[in-house]
Amino acid sequence: MDNIKKLISELTLEEKAGLTSGKDAWLTKAVERLGIPSARVSDGPHGLRADDYSRDDRATMLAVCFPTAVTTAASFDKKMLYEMGEELGRECLAYGVDVLLGPGVNIKRSPLCGRNFEYFSEDPHLAGELGAAFVNGVQSQGVGTSLKHYFANSQETRRFTSSSEIDERTAREIYLTAFETVVKKAQPWTVMASYNKVNGTHSTANKYYLDEVLRNEWGFEGLVVSDWCATHDRPGAIAAGTDLTMPAEDTDHLIVEAVKNGALPEEALDRCCERVLRLVERAVAGRRANAECDKKAAHALAARFAENSLVLLKNDGILPLKKSAKVAFIGAFADRPRIQGGGSSHIVETEITGALGYARAQGLDVSYAEAYDRETGEATPEQFAEAVKAAKSAEKAVLFIGLPDCMEYEGGDRQHMRLPDAHNRLVEAVCEANPETVVVLHNGSPVEMPWIEKPKAVLESYLGGQAVGIAQVRILFGDANPSGRLAESFPKKLEDNSSYLYYIGEGDRVTYNEGIFVGYRYYETKKTEVLFPFGWGLSYTDFEYSDLDVKKTGEHSAEATVNVKNVGGVKGREVVQLYVAPEKVKMIRPVRELKGFEKIELGPGETKTVKFELDSRAFAYWDVEKHGWEVEDGGFEIQICKNASEVILKQKI
Ligand code: GLC
Repeated sequence: MDNIKKLISELTLEEKAGLTSGKDAWLTKAVERLGIPSARVSDGPHGLRADDYSRDDRATMLAVCFPTAVTTAASFDKKMLYEMGEELGRECLAYGVDVLLGPGVNIKRSPLCGRNFEYFSEDPHLAGELGAAFVNGVQSQGVGTSLKHYFANSQETRRFTSSSEIDERTAREIYLTAFETVVKKAQPWTVMASYNKVNGTHSTANKYYLDEVLRNEWGFEGLVVSDWCATHDRPGAIAAGTDLTMPAEDTDHLIVEAVKNGALPEEALDRCCERVLRLVERAVAGRRANAECDKKAAHALAARFAENSLVLLKNDGILPLKKSAKVAFIGAFADRPRIQGGGSSHIVETEITGALGYARAQGLDVSYAEAYDRETGEATPEQFAEAVKAAKSAEKAVLFIGLPDCMEYEGGDRQHMRLPDAHNRLVEAVCEANPETVVVLHNGSPVEMPWIEKPKAVLESYLGGQAVGIAQVRILFGDANPSGRLAESFPKKLEDNSSYLYYIGEGDRVTYNEGIFVGYRYYETKKTEVLFPFGWGLSYTDFEYSDLDVKKTGEHSAEATVNVKNVGGVKGREVVQLYVAPEKVKMIRPVRELKGFEKIELGPGETKTVKFELDSRAFAYWDVEKHGWEVEDGGFEIQICKNASEVILKQKI
């Protein structure tokens, strides 16, 4: 560190200003004179974005497309997110990338956000825990991360200018919590300041949230980087604590002038330069000469991650299918699945395994009909007729539908929650032709399912990465037991969502009037029935819970243990979910909030005891008078739930 101080003293004012903006889209500036190299950053949260380098080897710069965050969140598996981080770290080392620009932990305020696929959840506890595991995984390899987008970047519409107008308690309890958890549990090398304003001030110029909250309160030690083109006032960004503005800009001189005319104290600039130099130092220290990554092994990992994440939403006993059955795979997504979303996170995958190719490679007797145009989601009468014919002539029909790329992507929000019209009509027609029908979904955010009573099973595959077809076939035919749980609520219709009346906002003012009542916190408190609740997911086996035991371990802390038994005939994984329900409290609060989760594997007949440690924050609310966390002396109920709607065991403390 001391040589950093020394370097600062040797840098000219112009060189200092230069260090605080990029050399190009992906590199920090070097200072050859002093032997300071560049550091390389690259997207994104579920794979290495390699098609942006000017380097001539871009043809070989293919990367493994892992399941997107909406998918891996449904695994509820911290260990898996850590493993995914490790693998991405290895890929970064192999490609000479020092910082991976992810994870995205923005909270899903509405099903309409075009980037929901890139974020984990509507619940801050789940998003924070999974984000921390991912960051620890990547950084274990000597590669940095960028926790994004700090914060309340909850929509794509007018994302560069809109101001998220949020009250203090809602900000603290909902939109900041995941960032706080990741900073405290994983110390990401960087945090990315978001495009939007918060209560009128751009995130890159928001000294309170960048210095006071992020650094002074939470102890963040790393560097704040702007989102790309998110800095609108270079001296103001430095003064607020945005250390690095990306990408390259020709505005460094504004910083030089501001220091010269006294508007910007040079020590503020020095502080930012120190953080840039420390980032470069860590980057250089982490580099491994001729580091390798095994893309074939990573493809198998992507399949395993998807298998651990896909959510069985409905199953009237039709699944698993017999391998001897004559099955029709219907829909273009069976052949070429939608594996990721559009925008900066989009990567050039090494290969794609769709369900059709994999099933046939396994020797399964599977017929195929395209049914619709993969890009537009529309079906010609011929395609439609062919789909119905394929369903009629098979014992079982598996209909792959979902959202085409053109309906959800970075930079745009969805206008509704519907699937393409042709897809909805196909469900009706295929189920009519063959009642033994399974629907497989590919979507990055919740969709309405007006036909939900018709198919005998529904498997949610989200945007499950390049090997999603392997996971789908293994689950459909029983070689794998599905264990995903929804990390977001599926409302019956968009209008039921708590942000519905206010989402997108008016002009550049977006008021978060629903406050803390986001997702299940709203639906469960309001008792609004949903299509599928947060935490929902079926298995091919059954689990029984017993012996919940909760005891206080301090003034405002407790410990809970519960036994879980696999009472079915096949091995399976269960997500044990613990919620805290306030009783006899004066504050307005959601009926329950997730405060613990564990994913466990149980063989047939096996029992495991799961233990949860609850600290004071598990019971706390943010007190806007005291500007701090408070625990009321009322009572609480510890609830073990199957999902946000279904309490299995409970105990008051
Ligand atoms: C994009 C995204 C951000 C990404 C960055 C670099 O606009 O908002 O997530 O990491 O710019 O591509």
